[in-house]
Amino acid sequence: MKTIDPAEMGSRVFYKYMTASVAPRPVAFASTVDKAGNVNLSPFSFFNYMGIDPPIVAFAPNRRGRDNSYKDTALNIFEIPEVVVNLVTYDMVQQISLASAEFERGVNEFEKAGFTPLPSERIRPPRVKESPVQLECKVIEIREHGSMVLILAEVVLAHFSEELMDEHGQIDQRRTDWIARLGNDWYARANENALFEVARPQMGIGVDAMPERIRNSKILSGNNLGQLGSVLCLPDTAEIDAFAKTGEMTEILEQAKYGCQYLPDLLHEHARKLLTVNKVKEAWLTLLQAI
Ligand SMILES: Cc1cc2nc3c(=O)[nH]c(=O)nc-3n(C[C@H](O)[C@H](O)[C@H](O)COP(=O)(O)O)c2cc1C
Repeated sequence: MKTIDPAEMGSRVFYKYMTASVAPRPVAFASTVDKAGNVNLSPFSFFNYMGIDPPIVAFAPNRRGRDNSYKDTALNIFEIPEVVVNLVTYDMVQQISLASAEFERGVNEFEKAGFTPLPSERIRPPRVKESPVQLECKVIEIREHGSMVLILAEVVLAHFSEELMDEHGQIDQRRTDWIARLGNDWYARANENALFEVARPQMGIGVDAMPERIRNSKILSGNNLGQLGSVLCLPDTAEIDAFAKTGEMTEILEQAKYGCQYLPDLLHEHARKLLTVNKVKEAWLTLLQAI
């Protein structure tokens, strides 16, 4: 392990390790106005949904490294504590990147980056028409610490495109195509190919309750142990005996008897395959044949 003390390395260098590690981060495309009504639009990946009741988002336009000055978004929010957080899809990524260039204060990045402003209903900054989720927010708190300007904002009205919805009016995650930021110039795309589901955990038996030969298996991975540990109870002897008579088991038992392969390894390999298709019960029935 490379062990780093951020105070010794310097926080601007440490930043590279952090942004590459605390990643991927979602992107808030923040629309704000100053007190004269000039509009600003900039992306921020120090961003997340932080509170449920009331709904709160947080993002942080840090002070500029070169001269410690405030970014235009922060200056606008000091004047008018309102922001539209627009969420960003892959279709928008090149334009949001363009909008992140350090244009002079007062320059409207809707125009520079080619986005369409839509009037908001509850606050002054406009929404981004091209974004499928637009959150009208009122700033409730600003916390500063060193270069950080942390903005906490309550969502007072939210707009979701119908195109994201399934037949029950819920967002279908496969239709969203969000982008996220990582280190340096890297981005990730949460489209259907990148998504996977993990079943909600139950208060299962846990890894500590497993027989040692399974817990210390050289074939099963940490993910496999997580799946096996989430069952509520182990199969009983009758189930294990019945499973021994199935085609897949007799084949493995024969292989071990007449071949030169080690039975526990064959069983662990077979269980691993079953776990890749989430057949947890069958995996346990396989592993327990080795007793
Ligand atoms: C995807 C993306 C994410 C960014 N995230 C942040 C961030 O979280 N905090 C920050 O201070 N700057 C971030 N930046 C840089 C700002 O967008 C950039 O400094 C911008 O010019 C600030 O605009 P403003 O001065 O108009 O507020 C990010 C840039 C991009 C492209």
